[in-house]
Amino acid sequence: MLDRLTAQAPDALLALIKMYAADDRADKIDLGVGVYRTNEGATPVFKAIKAGEQALIDEQQSKSYLGPEGDLGFVHALMPYIFGSDPATGGPTMDGRIEGMQTPGGTGAVRLAAAVAKAAGVTRIHMGTPSWPNHAQILSDLDLELVGFGHATPEGAANIKAVLSAIRDARDGDAVLLHGCCHNPTGVDYTHEEWDQIAAALADSPVLAILDVAYHGLGHGLEEDAYGVRRVLGALDEALVAYSCDKNFGMYRDRVGALYVLAKDAGALDPILSNLNALARASWSMPPDHGGAAVRMVLEDEGRTQMWLDELEDMRSRMRRVRERLAAADNEVPGLNLAALADQNGLFAMLPLSKEQIAALRDDHAIYMAGSGRINIAGLHAGNTDKFIAALKAVAA
Ligand code: LMR
Repeated sequence: MLDRLTAQAPDALLALIKMYAADDRADKIDLGVGVYRTNEGATPVFKAIKAGEQALIDEQQSKSYLGPEGDLGFVHALMPYIFGSDPATGGPTMDGRIEGMQTPGGTGAVRLAAAVAKAAGVTRIHMGTPSWPNHAQILSDLDLELVGFGHATPEGAANIKAVLSAIRDARDGDAVLLHGCCHNPTGVDYTHEEWDQIAAALADSPVLAILDVAYHGLGHGLEEDAYGVRRVLGALDEALVAYSCDKNFGMYRDRVGALYVLAKDAGALDPILSNLNALARASWSMPPDHGGAAVRMVLEDEGRTQMWLDELEDMRSRMRRVRERLAAADNEVPGLNLAALADQNGLFAMLPLSKEQIAALRDDHAIYMAGSGRINIAGLHAGNTDKFIAALKAVAA
């Protein structure tokens, strides 16, 4: 029976990892999949995580099952960073209105959010495009209709009109999926004023808000990057927040994420959580424990937390320097609007390159990037940025 299946193309982004590995040119540059790299081009385990993992080995007494919700200590330890601690807004749980569960990475959280939305009657999801390609794949796999709107303007700012009209035109049975910060793939985020407008529009609309927060702390800082999430949740009765620790704790292959739900009051949380538990049980039963437990060991210890905050700060400032270096080359490579990169955030930027130019960068210059023209800013460093700019000049000529 299985011979009825037609072959599927490999995921284009993940296929790049293998193509890059197979290239033996010494000066190759990997701007493909979204992993942070140091100035030396490495993706080391965070020192804070190494320390957390060591503490886990020393202290963990059992690996017995926890349940579909995973490690709630991990889930709760993240909440002050995401939702804030201000007593005026009800603290990290917004007066008991927010609860969460651990998921296998941010992907698991997005999948669970979409699945529970579907179970609640959602049939269409509005989303700015381009987006992380797996968003569309997840929605398609769940038979949810994706209604796209343009996320960014050609000048490299957010297309606020498009998101506001998508929200205003949405009907009961619709959800809207927004990136909380460090938009993947464009790096184009909403300003505070724009988030204020989005929150007000959502409050006036029947649409269910789903926020995907996969790069928290990699834009301007943990507090600053949480502005949109807090503003939106502050305006609504209910919302879903998918969270990933794969980038901001460097946990990638350990698959560390969480899904949070805001309900209109604490009593309304239980039936929603029971659905999330049932969906998780049917999908992966329980999330993998190790990564979430290591993150918990970091967040439960002041010294390890400070190590983590310092490492995050280093990542952020290094990526800012790369952005500034590229923006300063704007005049050298006209037509790519490199100047806009300085005002964008996170790991990614999109360059308006043609398929042929992207292929020439790979074939002639050993530079690997997504077929969409997305580059991973963190793949650039002091030792390869000049080569990258020279290659851009060569293919753009
Ligand atoms: C990316 O966009 O490169 C990352 O989020 C990795 C992935 O899973 O696609």
